[in-house]
Order: sequence, then C-alpha cells, then structure tokens
Amino acid sequence: MCGIVGVTGTQEAASILIEGLKRLEYRGYDSAGIAIQRPHGQYVVKEKGKIRNLEASLDWNELKGTCGIAHTRWATHGVPNRDNAHPHVAGKIALVHNGIIENYAALKVQLRKKGRVFSSETDTEVLVHLIDDLYDGDLVTAVQKALALVDGAFGIAVTHADEPDLIVGARRGSPLVVGVGDGENFLASDVAAVMGHTRQVIYLDDGEMVVLRPGSVQTMTISNEAITKEVQEITWDLGQIQKGGFEHFMLKEIFEQPTTIRDAFRGRTLPDTGDVKLGGIQLTDWELRNIRRIIILACGTSWHAGLVGEYMLEEYAHLPVEVEYASEFRYRSPIIEPGTLCLVISQSGETIDTLEAMREARRRGAKILGITNVVGSTIARESECGVYIHAGPEIGVASTKAFTSQVTILGLITILLGRRGHLSADRGTQMLKELDRVPDLVQRVLDQAERIKDIARVYANHHNCLYLGRGVNFPIALEGALKLKEISYIHAEGYPAAEMKHGPIALIDENMPVVFICTKDSAYEKVVSNMMEVRARKGRIIAIATEGDTEVAQRADHVLYVPPSIPMLQPILSVIPLQLLSYHVAVQRGCDVDQPRNLAKSVTVE
Ligand code: F6R
Repeated sequence: MCGIVGVTGTQEAASILIEGLKRLEYRGYDSAGIAIQRPHGQYVVKEKGKIRNLEASLDWNELKGTCGIAHTRWATHGVPNRDNAHPHVAGKIALVHNGIIENYAALKVQLRKKGRVFSSETDTEVLVHLIDDLYDGDLVTAVQKALALVDGAFGIAVTHADEPDLIVGARRGSPLVVGVGDGENFLASDVAAVMGHTRQVIYLDDGEMVVLRPGSVQTMTISNEAITKEVQEITWDLGQIQKGGFEHFMLKEIFEQPTTIRDAFRGRTLPDTGDVKLGGIQLTDWELRNIRRIIILACGTSWHAGLVGEYMLEEYAHLPVEVEYASEFRYRSPIIEPGTLCLVISQSGETIDTLEAMREARRRGAKILGITNVVGSTIARESECGVYIHAGPEIGVASTKAFTSQVTILGLITILLGRRGHLSADRGTQMLKELDRVPDLVQRVLDQAERIKDIARVYANHHNCLYLGRGVNFPIALEGALKLKEISYIHAEGYPAAEMKHGPIALIDENMPVVFICTKDSAYEKVVSNMMEVRARKGRIIAIATEGDTEVAQRADHVLYVPPSIPMLQPILSVIPLQLLSYHVAVQRGCDVDQPRNLAKSVTVE
C-alpha cells in the first residue's frame, strides 16, 4: 500500500523523510521518491525498488532543505518504474498521492487539449497537472478547485517551489494524519512514519484538508470552511501501529475487507445501464460476445475464487466454465477451441504453476485475461488483457482480502459478459446495487469477531475438522478448510455436503467438528438434512447461517450469522467468519499466524 511522509520545520528534511519512509516499508511498496524544497528550487529523486536504491541516488549536497514530501508506491495505474513513482511534478508543484482517481482518463484528455504533456501512466500525474492548471498564486485554492473536479479516493501532500515551507494535505477515502511538533510539523498516511518525532497527532477525516508550516497547522474542509480538530496523543508502540493496532497482519487484512472490496469495484460500475467498465479488458464487444468457453487457471485460494467464478459465470453469463488447477493443466494436453477465454487468477502474479499454465494456454490459442493484485507482476505483464484487484499488499501468508477481491472482480466480469449476452439491464443494475452494499454487510460480519473468538476457544484442541457446503458454498467450504489447516496445522477437509455420505461420514463422532455453510439458498433444505445426519452421529456442528434463520440454531452447537445477499455475492460474506475462525484457532494454539511453517507468500518453484 502506498505511503506518504511530509515534513516542514528547521531540520534537514531529507533524513527525516527517508527515516519515515523506512517506517512505512512494512506496508509493501515497489518504488519510492522524495521532493525537497530549497530556496533555489525543488529537488526531486525517484527510484524503482527498495528505499536503499533511492538513498543511493540522492545527492546529499543538493538536499539542503527543511521542507519536503516523500512516498512509497504500490502500483495501481502503470507498472512499477521510476517514471510512475511519486512525487509527480507539474510546473513548480510536487505531489504525492495514495488512492485512485477514477476519472483520471477524462481529465487527462482535457488537460492534453490544453497542451499538457504526461511522462507517466499514473492517475496521480493527472492530478498534479490539474492543480498546476488551476494555480493562480495560491496553492490551497488550486488544490481545493482541483479536488472538486476529482472522483475517487485520495490522500495527498502537495508542495510549491515558490512557497518552500508549505505543505498542503487533503483526504477523501485514504488516511492522512498530521504530526504536531515544536517548530516543525509532519504529514503522513500512517502514524508509524512520524512517531520518532512526535506523539501529538491530528487525524484528518474525509473531506478535510490541512495547511502546514513550521509553526502552524491550519485545518479546513476541502470546500474551505475552517474546522477545529482535536490533537490526540499516541499511546501505541511502533509494532502495534504497523499492524494498525491488530495483533497480526492476517487479522488486519481480514478487517480491511470492507475497504478492499470497495476498492475492487470502485469506478468500475455503471448502475444506470446495469453494466461495468473494466479499462484493462481491451476486447471489443464483438470479441466479448464471441467467447464460447471459459477456462479458469489458478492455485490454492485463488483456485477457490475461480470455483466461485464458475458458478457466477454459468448462472448469469450462461457460459461453460472449467476451473483447473494450474499445476495439472500445464502437464495435460488441454483442448483449447476457438473462442476460449482463460481467466488466470493470482494474487502475487508470480506463482510459477499459474504462469506456466497461462503460457501453455496462450501457446494453444486461448485469449488470456489476468486477474492479479501485484501491478507489473509477470502474469500481469504477460496477459493480453487484465484486471487488477486493487487489494493493496497482502503480507499475511494466508490469503484473505485477496480472495474476496478476486470474487468481486469475477462478479464484475460476469456482469460484463452477461450484459453482452442474456443478462438484462435491470438484473445487472440489481446486482450492482447489491454489490454496493457488500462492504457494509462484510463489516456487519466482522462485528461478530468476539463471538467467533469464543467458539475458536472450544475447538482449538481438536485434531480434525470437516467443512461442508453445497453449490456456491462448496468452494467456501474448501477455502475454510484450507485457511484452518495452513495456519493452525489442524487437519481439515472441505467437501460438497452431499458427498459426505459417500465416505467421510465414517469419520463423524463426538470428536469431529463439522462446519456447515448453510445460508438460505436453493440447497438450504438439503444442507439442513446433512446437518441432521451429522447430529445423529454426535458430530459437533458450527453453522454459518443467514441472519434470522432460527431452524439452524436448533440443530447446530454454534451458529454464526451472515446477512442475506444475492447468491452471486453470498460467498463473500460466508467466508469472513471462516477466516476469523481459523485465525483465532491458530492464535489459541500459539501458531505463527503471519508466517506459518513450510509456507511462502509467493510460490515461484514448481
Ligand atoms: C492460501 C494461499 C495460497 C495461494 C496460492 C496461489 O492462503 O495463500 O493457497 O492462494 O499459493 O497464490 P497466488 O494467488 O499468488 O497465485
């Protein structure tokens, strides 16, 4: 995730900024940059890769300034390279930005008409040009006017060479905090960056701005109404702050999901026409209409997302879908007919089996659409077209937020293909309206975390666990079992609920907890019957059920409720309690949740 640091004071800014950037390293980044204001003009340096690369490029003799801004970038628009790194500059203005400017393409067209030339692929460079275009001697007013024209999310810090001790900050949807010092003030996206200098902070809220000088902090709304903000004292230590106050990255990432899911569909929906726009899919409507078959290639959790996608695409886009383990597909003789689209799903974009399967599919003539998180990763680069899930860096080895973002993107692709086939505009609109509610519904599930922790305590010492679901809940059963086994080392299996009687039922006794994903859908009654079969054999039942369902409560030992949604989106809600359950079981067992034994975040060996 991108990081912002800014300082204006009396000490040399460069070393404060570099130290601040290092404190943000844990968030993950792919490039970094710095802009220092000096009496004779600004000095800007950017580098791809680690902060040490940036440090090595700095000419410390040139860095004699006491005000500056700096950034670590996690690529969203444009690959990680020096041109796309921040700060971006237009005229005498430098800007760093976290978030996504949704209407950047339209703004870019208008600015180009005015003769503006762009040197990067980023949305951020459009914003700095817009501010420069509107600048008339007053940076604060120019920033306000520009932000009034912008759709999307931002946390920004802006400087101007003619006012070398000034930093202007603003936020909407992307965090920004002011560090209040003595004769010096700071701005950052994360308190970790300013903690070495001050513990007095002001958290900006959405729609707010700050004007910082060495001796003053002025707060206002973006529409220029003065506001008074409370200065708060930080009582946490650095380790806690880097994890956002959570004990582990995995838990932090689970709780980020209301935001990451929204980031996945932000700016990509067209509710009026029940359609979506996915800029990275450069296929014409004719090409999209002529897709006859879809093959989904992935591994692990991404493969489970693919299975959810299979249900969605068959149901709403009426397309035949096969979901393949990438590692199996690449060694078979897969049949690729004309009109085959391969959806290649990978959080890291580097999983070797997925990459090689993709290359094999392309060799055999399939069109490739990559669904990745890491911008500029090998799969993203080698895909003919692609969609980024925009989940931000996933640091916990067990994938959580990437899964729900992958499913969200598969939902958008389903609507895209469905609307070029049988899906009506009304149905598309309903689906998009429901998608818009999902982040709040996910939050409602997260609010039950304490209850889930209590249930985890009961089962932490068991050795086995079975997860059962039908239909679109079957992949959720698989994902729940994978989450449990990989971080708590408890043996867990996911099965289609109906398959239980073909073998696994022999395992059921009072020592076998069985997790049923039993939300109200067309298979509900049948899953309840399966639950009765388990109960008759004294199995312990944890049920994931729809809010308001009292029947399940009579049959299960524990029930975790999720809000109702349309079948396509229900899996996003059902998986959340399973992520939390695995997390809390693992913590109870004393396992290293973020770094489970034998596992790597990115599997680049076969
Ligand atoms: C499980 C997990 C793995 C990955 C798999 C694929 O929590 O993280 O199963 O999903 O290794 O990784 P990506 O999506 O990076 O290709």
